[in-house]
Amino acid sequence: MQRTEIKEVLNTGSFGDKVLVKGWVKAFRQNRFIQLNDGSTINNIQAVVDFENTDEAVIKRITTAAAVSLIGVLEESQGKGQKFDLIVESIEILGDADPEEVSKTILQPKKHSLEFLREQAHLRFRTNLFGAVFRIRHATSFAIHKYFNDKGYFHIATPIITGSDAEGAGEMFRVTNFDAKNPPVNEDGSVNWTEDFFGRETNLTVSGQLEAELAAMALGKVYTFGPTFRAENSNTARHLAEFWMVEPEVAFNDIVDNMDLAEDFLSYICQYVLENCADDVAFLNEREIQEDKSKPTAERNEMNLIDRLNFVINNDFARITYTEAIELLQNSAPYKKKKFKYPVEWGTDLQSEHERFLVEKHFKKPVIIRDYPASFKAFYMRLNEDGKTVAAMDILFPGIGEIIGGSQREERYDVLREKCKAFNISEEELWWYMDTRKFGTAPHAGFGLGFERMVMFTTGMSNIRDVIPFPRTPGKAEF
Ligand code: 4AD
Ligand code: MG
Repeated sequence: MQRTEIKEVLNTGSFGDKVLVKGWVKAFRQNRFIQLNDGSTINNIQAVVDFENTDEAVIKRITTAAAVSLIGVLEESQGKGQKFDLIVESIEILGDADPEEVSKTILQPKKHSLEFLREQAHLRFRTNLFGAVFRIRHATSFAIHKYFNDKGYFHIATPIITGSDAEGAGEMFRVTNFDAKNPPVNEDGSVNWTEDFFGRETNLTVSGQLEAELAAMALGKVYTFGPTFRAENSNTARHLAEFWMVEPEVAFNDIVDNMDLAEDFLSYICQYVLENCADDVAFLNEREIQEDKSKPTAERNEMNLIDRLNFVINNDFARITYTEAIELLQNSAPYKKKKFKYPVEWGTDLQSEHERFLVEKHFKKPVIIRDYPASFKAFYMRLNEDGKTVAAMDILFPGIGEIIGGSQREERYDVLREKCKAFNISEEELWWYMDTRKFGTAPHAGFGLGFERMVMFTTGMSNIRDVIPFPRTPGKAEF
């Protein structure tokens, strides 16, 4: 007999159907009712065991977490909250789970902290919470590919190992196969990287943008979607050392086209998740409402997950320049009451306390800030006519902060060369990038969406470590 997934049974089964299902036991009550889940949906199927006619040894092995295979007939459920009962005709135990062992893990039915769940990476997937999170993560990723594919973009695989530091922040992880204790050295004692595997120093990429620009100058509209790595020692709820980034790059787009694209793209993802993950989103929404009840009023969510997703779909983002942001901040109550820790001055970068004020207190909606001072933005951003700001844009989301960073690119060869000089970047090493400005250079723009920050938004999870299966953070890379 062919197996049917539980999602399909629940969605399309009819009374009287005989089905074979396989899954893991979530709960077993009164030696009779099995709650079975196979991961296809957050919903369990309730199976009813005829314990009088079932071998006692088999009944004993139906324990929380055990893997079982059941054949039975669908009947109208006598219980509340479900349509079907699966009246079991035969049971096969596929894999046992020792109740003693289970009682020491997060599978034991009581409330566990998210930190504790993170330590049990293998069992974390089995919880309702993380089942929902990772199904939504998948849908979020799929929505991204679908959005670009439907609009005629081409997906480009940009390298994970690279010789360039695209962002120039120097926060890279080295890639080498030298013997750490005994690398070849030059006469002056420094390491001789020319003898390394690639014949040069290499690192894990911080962004696929520069390579994507090369492709955009031929294919027109492209995007990369891959893992990126940053060795910044930020132990915050929104930083990972290994995260995924989505980077579209579009020939002939300017900064306004870039903002329009980003806004449309973000709404589309929210819409897709609402439409395709209704059960999981409803579960997370309800969880949030319950959690809020035990929090002081000031810490509760002003809007719940479903409302927040709808809000992004139905409302335009606020758009301001960096200069306007500084003015707004300097006129704000927290600034006047000296509540900000960091200075607010034209020419200094905005800190998260400033961003939070703008997004969560002032505008109460997503905000796009553009035209930042050239001094603290990357070398490739296009210089504005004022000669001191660049056509950069950051998109800030409530509860998350910066979700997108992007810009129009400096397509003018001379200006770019000047920028390289000012930023101490070697034009010779970047010859392959500089070349795009010599053979039919064209205006173009793009941005990078932090994928996990987006999944924080589509799931409502407040720590970035809880939206990636195996978080890499300072001191943590066990699994
Ligand atoms: O603003 P960033 O550094 O921009 C770039 O890397 C550009 N090359 C993108 C482009 O224009 N193609 O990073 C883009 C986004 C941020 O807005 C943030 O959402 C996310 O990547 N991000 C991180 N996410 C998790 N952990 C980290 N350590 C992150 N650093 C950046
Ligand atoms: Mg940024």
